Amino acid sequence: MELRRIALLLAFFVVAVCSQCSDAHTMRKRGAEDGDYDENLMGDEGPTDDEAQNDDRGDEKETPPETIITQPTSYNVTVGRTVRLECKVSPNNRPVIQWSKDGQPLFMGQARFPMAQLEMPERLNVSIATNDLLIVDVRPADSGKYKCTVIQAQQTSIEHVIAVQEAPRIIRYTVSDNGVVMEGSELVLRCDVAGSPAPTIIWSRDNGAGNVRLTEADAIFTLNTATIKNVRREKAGKYYCFVFNALGSTQSEHNVKVLHKPHVQVHKTVVNSALEVEAILQCVAHAEPAPRITWYKDGSMIDPFSPYVVSTDGPHSNLTVTPHQDSDFGTFTCVATNSHGKHNRSIELVQRPVVEGVELEGNKLSWRVHSHQPLRKVELQLRDTEAVVTTLNVPLPEDTNKHEIEFIYALENVTPGKYEVVVKAENSKEWSRESEPVIVDYEAMPMPIQTASVYHGNSHSIRPASSVILSSAFMYLLVRMF
Ligand SMILES: *[C@@H]1O[C@H](CO)[C@@H](O)[C@H](O)[C@H]1NC(C)=O
Ligand SMILES: *[C@@H]1O[C@H](CO)[C@@H](O)[C@H](O)[C@H]1NC(C)=O
Ligand SMILES: *[C@@H]1O[C@H](CO)[C@@H](O)[C@H](O)[C@H]1NC(C)=O
Ligand SMILES: *[C@@H]1O[C@H](CO)[C@@H](O)[C@H](O)[C@H]1NC(C)=O
Repeated sequence: MELRRIALLLAFFVVAVCSQCSDAHTMRKRGAEDGDYDENLMGDEGPTDDEAQNDDRGDEKETPPETIITQPTSYNVTVGRTVRLECKVSPNNRPVIQWSKDGQPLFMGQARFPMAQLEMPERLNVSIATNDLLIVDVRPADSGKYKCTVIQAQQTSIEHVIAVQEAPRIIRYTVSDNGVVMEGSELVLRCDVAGSPAPTIIWSRDNGAGNVRLTEADAIFTLNTATIKNVRREKAGKYYCFVFNALGSTQSEHNVKVLHKPHVQVHKTVVNSALEVEAILQCVAHAEPAPRITWYKDGSMIDPFSPYVVSTDGPHSNLTVTPHQDSDFGTFTCVATNSHGKHNRSIELVQRPVVEGVELEGNKLSWRVHSHQPLRKVELQLRDTEAVVTTLNVPLPEDTNKHEIEFIYALENVTPGKYEVVVKAENSKEWSRESEPVIVDYEAMPMPIQTASVYHGNSHSIRPASSVILSSAFMYLLVRMF
């Protein structure tokens, strides 16, 4: 094949340099004699034939060099269309021309004698009448620089540029393991696309809370892949391959599941209730595949036909219990199991008060107490750096029938220093546990300087909420009830 091409090129070189010599004349003459056939195809080529015949009359004057009068042009061509690349020469003595693409010859010859169509695809044709290169059914690979050269002593050429335009297409969008991967493994998204100009790919994930573009922090990108190493369960969701170029855009989606063992969370770890008071213990278990949720009381599986009612909805499970006797209180455990493992969390159902949500903002301490039983006492314990405990008795609200009471308490007139503060409450049944300690740093707090003594131990002088305006009160106290 190569040899043939070289031979042909050599042949044309000879044709080119001898275009003025007698061989060429002979050839042209023969062309003219065969003209009956050609002229039927090229009705408008009359003058050229005349010129050729003039030559044949033995007029030995030199043929003027041919020039290309077509201007170089850039074409944006949509896939499937036809494009005509012009190469008009003047005067047109049917020169030997060459069409090449990106430096590779496509065609060489005198238009009416296409002596070499060098591996020119069938979709390409050189018009014998005009030297134009016609490309039908344009493909993306047809993009490039097309050069028309007139082969003569002084070669002349022009170059056209074709930019094939194709709206982006997604040929195939695949996800490793068909989108079901173990937590910790590698997730590879691959989007094979077509389009011209080459489409840009944007990767994104919709985990139910909106479609968010993947960044370098999420994945490693190559031209058409996104790889997430050590994929976490939070990375499950719908992954999109969105592609666009100047002509348009398209997208494809794929679900990704990240398999992992269950993880159980409970709404509250301690729930207060009373005899004949219904309590709802809430648990949520995340797992892939979805887990089976079972409940235990004090280590024994709960009989579903027991007085307990279990209601499960997706990852959520509620155990509704109405205690009829003291032994109905205890530790309830929500256990979730799937093929990758199991996990549990426990909820204590108690009759003691439950103190929670202890927070310090400025010098205001706030917390909540849950108790279906009437409260008897609420205390703050301030433990200083020498482990000396100061107990502050917090007045109770007037309405003790509330089951959830919010307290806000301003700590004032306390000896400067650092304290660990805990909250305790007692109801008709028992004392609560101490709350998690909160660190209070009085040195950091601008306090009004007062000489009032710091109070140690329990006191009956604590005033109810209505008397907080008393300036001698060493604490300012607010009790808000729901
Ligand atoms: C061809 O398309 C490109 C963008 O795709 C544009 O910048 C250029 O102007 C277009 N040229 C013509 C001749 O339409
Ligand atoms: C190219 O020319 C040949 C011969 O003239 C013809 O058979 C063919 O159909 C043409 N192809 C195109 C794409 O026009
Ligand atoms: C569990 O109880 C809560 C509070 O009553 C309720 O909002 C939720 O819908 C319940 N969930 C199920 C699965 O029953
Ligand atoms: C809960 O998990 C702990 C720790 O894995 C285990 O010891 C305990 O038996 C589990 N409880 C139940 C009821 O499955």
